[in-house]
Amino acid sequence: MAPFGQSRMLPRAAYVDPAVFAWEQRHFFGGGWMCVARSDQIAQPGDQRAEATGEGSVLLTRDDEGVLHAFANTCRHRGHELLPCGTAAQQKVIICPYHSWTYTLDGGLRAAAGFKNQPRFAAERWGLNELPVTEWHGLIFVDGSGAAPPLADSLGTLDEIVAPYEMERLIVAGRHEYETTANWKILTENYHECYHCPVIHPELCKVSPPRSGENYSTPGIWVGGWMDLRDGMATMSLDGASHGVPLRALDEKGLRTVIYVAIFPNLLVSLHPDYVMVHRLVPLAVDRTYIECTWAFAPESLAQPGFDPTYAVEFWDITNRQDWHACESVQRGLSSPHAVPGPLSPDEDAVYQFVAMVARGYQGQPAWNPGLPSWDVSDPVPAR
Ligand code: FES
Ligand SMILES: [Fe+2]
Repeated sequence: MAPFGQSRMLPRAAYVDPAVFAWEQRHFFGGGWMCVARSDQIAQPGDQRAEATGEGSVLLTRDDEGVLHAFANTCRHRGHELLPCGTAAQQKVIICPYHSWTYTLDGGLRAAAGFKNQPRFAAERWGLNELPVTEWHGLIFVDGSGAAPPLADSLGTLDEIVAPYEMERLIVAGRHEYETTANWKILTENYHECYHCPVIHPELCKVSPPRSGENYSTPGIWVGGWMDLRDGMATMSLDGASHGVPLRALDEKGLRTVIYVAIFPNLLVSLHPDYVMVHRLVPLAVDRTYIECTWAFAPESLAQPGFDPTYAVEFWDITNRQDWHACESVQRGLSSPHAVPGPLSPDEDAVYQFVAMVARGYQGQPAWNPGLPSWDVSDPVPAR
């Protein structure tokens, strides 16, 4: 919590202690808005999908009127999950797999075997517990606490930055799943700096200068910045060429930069001139994280004869694996009882913004990021 330049990284326990992880599951992942799916996964009436939200999970449905709902994924009878996490169904009703209690797509209890002639059984009391849900540029967010302020309030100006990419009209043409043996915060911290790029990402440095760009200084529950493309490079790919078409609403700057933003706690959005890559992190344990990575392109790109998204997917799959390899080594290194939190470099201001959000959360304050820190070494704390 000290000023940038004097502060140290989070305590080792934040990365290795299962008790800290349990706290984060309750308060970060289950205690406010988090992204759980894409709108195209719940597009039609009857579509259903379950995803983890901290300690529990959520059941998403699209009802007959096209309205999106989110429910605690637990049956009102004796608690069975309505759908296993990470799976989907398409059905006109929600049927619990245990004793077949049946719910409508908007959560009302429609049938419970054996209760039909029980005069004291009030079915209207036993509907599913509904949670706040909202769609933002083609992504679905759920508030596991049921009490958070509107998502738009906490994103602030990010909406203006993201809007020209028209994510809601893009089509996912590439998808990878990864399971890493690293704490979710190590992955996010790694995303927020390119201090490591010259050392572990030769492919990335060929197309984008690692020290280019700046971080945003606007407040909200997100952190991010941009980097430039080198002259002659059209996008992030192994040879810098694009095999798609540029996104139609981008200005000159959008066509020459890549924007990297993280929405607390679990979403990394990378905005390219011709595609958008999204990493959705799902923490599995203090030292294990599932990552879904998708690549979405304009419909005009997919309409091109023989369109192949490999140019983008391969580039980032190589880069992702270089990152996960480094993050997994950080996890192993931090498991040493001799690991002590170190200082951040002047190039790691976005890491500072992120860990300060986490630290505020640990102290019971809103994680809200006040904006870009200035480097301050006027009163450095001792090294230990
Ligand atoms: S627990 Fe769902 S019907 Fe019994
Ligand atoms: Fe990296």
